[in-house]
Amino acid sequence: MKIFKSKHKLQKKILNIKNISFVPTMGGLHRGHISLIKKSKTFKGKILVSIFVNPKQFNEKKDFLSYPRNLKKDLIILKNLNVDFVYIPNVKNIFSFRAKNKIFLDKSSKKLCGQSRRGHFEGVLNVVNRFLEIIKPRYIFLGIKDFQQSYLINRHILKKKINTKVIHCKTIREKNGVACSTRNNRLNENQFKIASNVFKYLKTKKKLIQKKISNFKLLKIKKDLINLGVTKIDYVELYNVKTLKRPKNKREKFKIFIAFYLNKIRLIDNI
Ligand code: PAF
Repeated sequence: MKIFKSKHKLQKKILNIKNISFVPTMGGLHRGHISLIKKSKTFKGKILVSIFVNPKQFNEKKDFLSYPRNLKKDLIILKNLNVDFVYIPNVKNIFSFRAKNKIFLDKSSKKLCGQSRRGHFEGVLNVVNRFLEIIKPRYIFLGIKDFQQSYLINRHILKKKINTKVIHCKTIREKNGVACSTRNNRLNENQFKIASNVFKYLKTKKKLIQKKISNFKLLKIKKDLINLGVTKIDYVELYNVKTLKRPKNKREKFKIFIAFYLNKIRLIDNI
């Protein structure tokens, strides 16, 4: 496993490699990341993982500073997975050059997390666009736990005709149903239990909505979630997975999207 901090050294090394599978991360690696890397292993070529906590996608400085980091542990995990290259740039390395492509922000970026985290998706696309230019990967692996993120990255890649294919990977969950997330590190036992109850509640709700779409009663759902112990709800929405619009009938493929707080910790999921 080769570790690179410099963009130039990395580019020199990978210049002639055609099939690069790219797994972008912000570190704090968990079973979700591991499954992305394992998925990338089923494709031909070399695997490159980046670790970069991107300051531009945090709308609150406090959140950026308290984001869990554990580089030593991350590198052990990556080594055990036999990853070929790890790229750990610093802020200057990534943002000091002029990107060729301007970012394309689909209008659905204004919804869901785009509404509650102003500037978040601009920040994500800014950094991913730069990574794509530096690495020119054949594939990029993204988890659908961050559904809107992978949706918007895909829209950007298609619009800008970038020669990289998005591989959308399934959400990995803890035994109690909570979606794996670096932020789970900050939950105490009780909060972890509440997060699990939220998942179970929404799973049951989804079954009812699949029977009858009018079973989606937003106010009632919000009230129930607060009763379960949720501190604050940024959004809970029912959206068609292709259009990110409200479905009109139960034959459309939809999901429940949620962002909520347990004390100061913000979690997202889609069920
Ligand atoms: O999902 C993440 O970890 C980040 O948003 C990403 C894609 C690595 C961009 O910083």
